[in-house]
Amino acid sequence: VTSERRGSIAIRGLREQDYDAVIAVLDEWWGGRSMAPLLPRLFFEHFHDSGLAAEREGHLVAFLVGFRSQADPELAYIHFVGVDPALRGQGIGRALYERFFELMRQLGCSRVACITSPVNTASVAFHRSMGFSDRIHRDHDGPEQHRVVFERSLG
Ligand SMILES: CC(C)(COP(=O)(O)OP(=O)(O)OC[C@H]1O[C@@H](n2cnc3c(N)ncnc32)[C@H](O)[C@@H]1OP(=O)(O)O)[C@@H](O)C(=O)NCCC(=O)NCCS
Repeated sequence: VTSERRGSIAIRGLREQDYDAVIAVLDEWWGGRSMAPLLPRLFFEHFHDSGLAAEREGHLVAFLVGFRSQADPELAYIHFVGVDPALRGQGIGRALYERFFELMRQLGCSRVACITSPVNTASVAFHRSMGFSDRIHRDHDGPEQHRVVFERSLG
């Protein structure tokens, strides 16, 4: 991934070393929810090559953890995306998604999927704006752990 200037924001490939910066802000960026257990270091050790980071003046201000499905090579999957709360609503999330979509198309993916919690109405609105269809999958992650499942074409 080469870097891209977007105003004063630069998008680059995710690095294993980004984990410490991300985990330090993760729960705060998710409005105080305990998200850290869902993002162990292994995602940065073993999946960073398909992830993205956005920096401003050398500081990480957004990230995306995503990869091509191991089981279905035509499917891309986004596990986490987060933007610094001070910089939301400026197109950074959209820019990370579009860059990721392009990377996944180059790998031969035709679809992209992700999930979110039904309480995360901002995430649902964001994914609808990004062209994803959504459906509720009851008990997706176990009893009473309902999730909104998103999918869209990369065509
Ligand atoms: C969801 C999130 C990544 C969006 O990032 P962002 O940089 O603010 O999004 P953008 O500015 O690129 O917005 C892209 C589109 O989504 C829409 N959108 C984004 N956040 C929205 C919100 N809270 N409510 C309604 N629409 C929203 C924008 O209006 C925009 O639509 P448009 O391009 O058609 O005008 C960001 O709010 C975030 O980090 N939230 C906390 C973490 C999280 O919940 N991540 C997702 C689950 S893993």
